[in-house]
Amino acid sequence: MNQSDAVERLFLIIQKYLGENPDKVLNYLPPKAMAETLGLDAPRPAGDMEQLFSEIENYLQYSVRTGHSQYLNQLWSGFSMPVFMGEVISALCNTSMYTYEVAPVALLIERKMIAELLQIIGFTAGEGQFTTGGSNGNMLAMMIARNRAVEDCKKRGIHGVPLVGFVSEDAHYSFDKAANILGLGTNSLVKVPIDHTSTMNPVLLEKAIFDAKAAGNIPFFVGATAGTTIRGTFDDLTTIGAVARQNDMWFHVDGAWGGSVLLSSARDQHLAAIEEADSLVWDAHKMMGMTLMCSLFAVREKGHFDDVLKLGDTSYIFHEDDDLVDPGLLSLQCGRRNDILKFWLEWCYTGKEGYQKRIDNFMSLIAYARAKVVADPKLELVDENGILSVCFRYTDDQISDLNAFNIDVRRDLYEAGASFVNYSYLGEIAVIRLVISNKNVGKPDIDRFFENFDKQARAKLLDIRSDS
Ligand SMILES: Cc1ncc(COP(=O)(O)O)c(C=O)c1O
Repeated sequence: MNQSDAVERLFLIIQKYLGENPDKVLNYLPPKAMAETLGLDAPRPAGDMEQLFSEIENYLQYSVRTGHSQYLNQLWSGFSMPVFMGEVISALCNTSMYTYEVAPVALLIERKMIAELLQIIGFTAGEGQFTTGGSNGNMLAMMIARNRAVEDCKKRGIHGVPLVGFVSEDAHYSFDKAANILGLGTNSLVKVPIDHTSTMNPVLLEKAIFDAKAAGNIPFFVGATAGTTIRGTFDDLTTIGAVARQNDMWFHVDGAWGGSVLLSSARDQHLAAIEEADSLVWDAHKMMGMTLMCSLFAVREKGHFDDVLKLGDTSYIFHEDDDLVDPGLLSLQCGRRNDILKFWLEWCYTGKEGYQKRIDNFMSLIAYARAKVVADPKLELVDENGILSVCFRYTDDQISDLNAFNIDVRRDLYEAGASFVNYSYLGEIAVIRLVISNKNVGKPDIDRFFENFDKQARAKLLDIRSDS
């Protein structure tokens, strides 16, 4: 089969997939049955294009449809044609985002997008880079803070300097990973309790900093979260930022999930004073609908990337004879994927106004879902503060173990392919966490989700009754 026929075949398969409107989010099979169905242990004939199309069809048939309107599980979802086109063309022109020489168009687009996003944040004299994700950005923030706090850290490491960082108990686990990777150890990361607003308690933050100093440690980093992973709340950036500055600490904002609220009309309500932070992570692959990955790490002042990340003999790759400084000199990795073309195409297509409507809509859909929970006597709203998520559970006097019941219902829904939603624990309570990041989800989809959930829960309840 020649290339042109193969392209045609491939696009026919894609067209068919996109044209389908299946009821189910996935065709679930348990791992063993899935492996058998895919026949992964059988030898494959080399050089057989037909075989590849059958592999692709199997892949599509059994993969989760993350663009489905009942896929409400992770913080990323949905399908967008401009993004898809960007991915295809990026793969077609495979390049690495380290030098202008190999990625002239992509790098200029990236520079333009970074400038645009820095303006939106309010980091008007700052700099930014696209990384492998929010986890990576959180680590970079902590790394810059570490090197700022420890003299000559680049060469000597932390050489026993007793650094302590602070995040809320609801912060993303990537901060623990960062503390580990950066040689600080997870004991050096204090988890500040949240208060009645489900956000970091600034009074307890101050106390924890005071205690750390009293114990002879050096507070160096505060990470606030704008859009917590489970409850979907926003730490008070104004107050926490002031505490960080008073104590000469680096103030980072993890906006991996909620950074996109910068584009919404609720920006001032949830992200006031963000422009005073030292750094920010903002995942465009979450609420902005990019395919994984597409994540900005930005700092308020220039020079930190150069100070912390520029290292080693790179003369074989960076010839620096173009006036655009090769960004690869300042990133953590060497080769770097082109995550920008898809973003650029979607940005051109949707525009700032389009994004404002989209993010506003996500928040009003969450408010709609919350109201449905509150109105249903069988459902309990476990956290009242979520802006970007609804955490709830099903209750009934006949259920002896509410945690197990809710986890089972969620699993049944998933295996049936009816709706795909996540669960987590808030303290001891297992909650269903509903989130929305798919631009094509609307109120009827939220209604359908609750109908599906209710149906599955009632079926489970009937089982319990018939067993007892
Ligand atoms: C608040 C928060 N920070 C960071 C991350 C990590 O982001 P990524 O998956 O891009 O590494 C997540 C992921 O969900 C998150 O919710």
